[in-house]
Amino acid sequence: MKIGILGSGAVAKSLAAGCMRHGHAVMLGTRTPAKLEDWVAKNPGAKTGTFADTAAFGELVILAVKGAAAADALKAAGAGNLSGKTVIDTTNPIADAPPVNGVLKFFTTLDDSLMERLQREFPGAHFVKAFNSVGNVSMVDPAFKGGKPTMFICGNHEAAKKAVTGLLDDFGWEVADMGAAEAARAIEPLCILWCIPGFLRQDWVHAFKLLS
Ligand SMILES: NC(=O)c1ccc[n+]([C@@H]2O[C@H](COP(=O)([O-])OP(=O)(O)OC[C@H]3O[C@@H](n4cnc5c(N)ncnc54)[C@H](OP(=O)(O)O)[C@@H]3O)[C@@H](O)[C@H]2O)c1
Repeated sequence: MKIGILGSGAVAKSLAAGCMRHGHAVMLGTRTPAKLEDWVAKNPGAKTGTFADTAAFGELVILAVKGAAAADALKAAGAGNLSGKTVIDTTNPIADAPPVNGVLKFFTTLDDSLMERLQREFPGAHFVKAFNSVGNVSMVDPAFKGGKPTMFICGNHEAAKKAVTGLLDDFGWEVADMGAAEAARAIEPLCILWCIPGFLRQDWVHAFKLLS
């Protein structure tokens, strides 16, 4: 599959490398493609471009930019380039204020998530929340002593969630579908919980598992 990844940070690079390992073609999108030259030299085969080039390239698109800039990045990608496509939303609405005792602050409330805002602003795209509550090093082929971790997903478009479930299954995740976009109000704050051991004890390698 051709996967367009909007972003140039740790998440975009980790997911790009993982997608290529699993046989997909990738393009990374950024405002300044030149800054990815070194990374591309080490990851041959990856393409880079503008946000618009990348959204146009992707049969599936992954949004991996700073939460506060997500809407701007999608505007630059172009609503037309996103229309009818699955958009995996990895972002978290992290506020600029520093964490308090390791607890991050969000700029959203429990009554409205970032993904719902993006879905309202770009109604033609099929957003699916995923990858937001695990560290980038564990996003593809996670290896934990406790077994396969759980990826919580949600979104309004069933076929999009099915496509994302297939990808996550290939990447070594158990998938827990939490329903429609409103579930992002619960999934996004898992990032706050996930980061606490990191801020308090420098423990950044763990993942959630849903037991039944
Ligand atoms: N780091 C992790 O392990 C992790 C884990 C789970 C989820 N997440 C979430 O994943 C997302 C990406 O995280 P990250 O750590 O890889 O990178 P990041 O530092 O949060 O974001 C970097 C990206 O944001 C873009 N950006 C920043 N300001 C922008 C603006 N004004 N307009 C357009 N684009 C802008 C940058 O674009 P340019 O390339 O143009 O500079 C760059 O691609 C975040 O929402 C984060 O909360 C992170």
